[in-house]
Amino acid sequence: MAVTIKSEREIQIMRDAGKILAEVHDRLAEMIEPGITTLEIDRRGEELIRNAGCIPSFKGYEGYPASICVSVNDEVVHGIPNKKHRLFEGDIVSLDAGVIYKEYQSDAARTYGVGQVDAESQKLMDVTKECFYQGIRFAKAGNHLYDISSAIQKYAESNGFSVVRDLVGHGIGKEMHEEPQIPNYKPKIGRGIRLCPGMTLAIEPMINAGAYDVWILEDDWTVVTRDGKKSAHYENTVLITDGEPEILSLI
Ligand code: MF3
Ligand code: CO
Repeated sequence: MAVTIKSEREIQIMRDAGKILAEVHDRLAEMIEPGITTLEIDRRGEELIRNAGCIPSFKGYEGYPASICVSVNDEVVHGIPNKKHRLFEGDIVSLDAGVIYKEYQSDAARTYGVGQVDAESQKLMDVTKECFYQGIRFAKAGNHLYDISSAIQKYAESNGFSVVRDLVGHGIGKEMHEEPQIPNYKPKIGRGIRLCPGMTLAIEPMINAGAYDVWILEDDWTVVTRDGKKSAHYENTVLITDGEPEILSLI
C-alpha cells in the first residue's frame, strides 16, 4: 500500500488518539520506581487504554502477547512484560505503546530512568529524545524523508552513540505500519519520498550507547544490543502540515 494522505476528519481522530496515548504514557511514567514489575506496567497500561475507549494495538499483533513493550537496559525494543522482572534503581526502561481509536492508530515510546541513574545513561536518554526533535526539524512539506533520518543520525553519532539499523520508524494511520519506512540513519541511495501535508509518521529513534548491532532473544521478540550496552527509544506520531509538524502523541 502506498503512503496515505489523511483527510481533516482522519487527522482529527488521530489527534484524539494521540492525546489519549500521551495521557497513558504520563500515567505510566508515575509508576516507574524500583521494585515494580514489567507486567504491572503492562496491566496498568492496558487498563488505561481500554478505559479511554481504545484498543491496545500491540496485543496480538503478529502474536505479541502484551499491550505495552517494556524494554530494560540492553533491551532495545519489544521487551515482553513478565511478572518476575522487577525494575531496579539505575535501570533505564523504555515503554512503547499503541492505541486504536475509532479505527485510527497512534504509536509512541518514552524511556525513563528508574530512581537515580548514572550520567552516561541519562545522557543516552536525553540524546535519544533530542534525536527525535532534531529529526522533526526537517519534517516539513517539500523536504525529503531522509532529511529527518540524517538529522537523527548526525545528532546521535556526534554524541558518541550509534543508531540501530535493523529497526525503523513508519507511516501510521488505519494500520500501525504503513509506508514509508523511516530509517534513523541516512540510507546510501536516494533522498526518500517528498513529504506532503496530511502524512502521518511514527518517528522513533532507537539509539545504542555502544555499537549498533542487535539480536533477538529466544522469545522471538526481545531485541537486545549485541554488546550488552544500554539502548534508549523515543517515539511520537507526527503530522506533516503546510508549516511546522504537529506532534500528535503529546498533551
Ligand atoms: N511500536 C512498535 C513499532 O513501532 C510496535 C511494537 S511491535 C508489537 O513498530 F508487536 F508489539 F506490536
Ligand atoms: Co512505531
